Amino acid sequence: MRLLIVGPPGAGKGTQARILAERRGLDHIASGDLLRENIRAGTALGREAQSYMDRGDLVPDDVMIKAIEARIVDSDSKDFILDGFPRTQPQAEALDDLLERLGLPLDLVICLAVSDEKIIERLGGRRTCPACQRTYHMQYERPQDDERCDEDNTGLVLRADDQPDTIRHRLDVYHDTTERMLDYYADRGLLTSLDGDGYVESVAERVDQAIEARS
Ligand code: AP5
Repeated sequence: MRLLIVGPPGAGKGTQARILAERRGLDHIASGDLLRENIRAGTALGREAQSYMDRGDLVPDDVMIKAIEARIVDSDSKDFILDGFPRTQPQAEALDDLLERLGLPLDLVICLAVSDEKIIERLGGRRTCPACQRTYHMQYERPQDDERCDEDNTGLVLRADDQPDTIRHRLDVYHDTTERMLDYYADRGLLTSLDGDGYVESVAERVDQAIEARS
């Protein structure tokens, strides 16, 4: 099974992709996590991506496509959920070319719809583990210790791009660019839009039902 999960920043893509990956044994490939891992490791990709990410702009297509293609080709699994990629039409077309070459058709594109007001509330309260990338919310999904990750006890951080002005800019980028790309999948009958509001488990149930409806 090959799925894409798309939606505005803070819609819950990472939260839902992690749940799905665990329940259905999928490889979770998250473009943002991949870039942040490279920034931490000080690679050429990380150095190139950092200023774009800090501003809330998209990393250039050629850089992003190369990184994700390598990650997909290296994966041990043919079943995966892509979280945060593609975000532009050229990325969507490059992904299609790759999947066709690999003989791995796409099954479903899930778009999580959440209002901008809710996004601002979610991202302002988010804390992220820089080691394992797990996210928490200081109101909706608290860690056992407010400052440490439940999984590995690493100190939690507020992401550099989760400052109010940068969140608003990321939302503009989403509405101006990524939202337009969705027609590409809608035209092929692959797109399912779901309400991303409500309890995490309620959203997970909607995601599950959408997948079952396709099976
Ligand atoms: P990326 O890391 O992908 O960020 P994003 O798309 O902005 O998404 P987020 O990680 O902020 O949110 P999410 O939807 O995963 O929500 P989460 O589950 O954490 O990308 C960062 C940057 O990298 C981009 O700005 C760009 O520069 C670059 N980049 C990445 N991919 C790229 C690409 N393809 N092309 C070019 N550049 C690229 O949830 C958010 C919060 O809400 C958490 O606190 C969570 O606990 C909470 N929450 C989740 N679900 C619920 C719920 N149902 N109710 C209440 N709270 C909830």
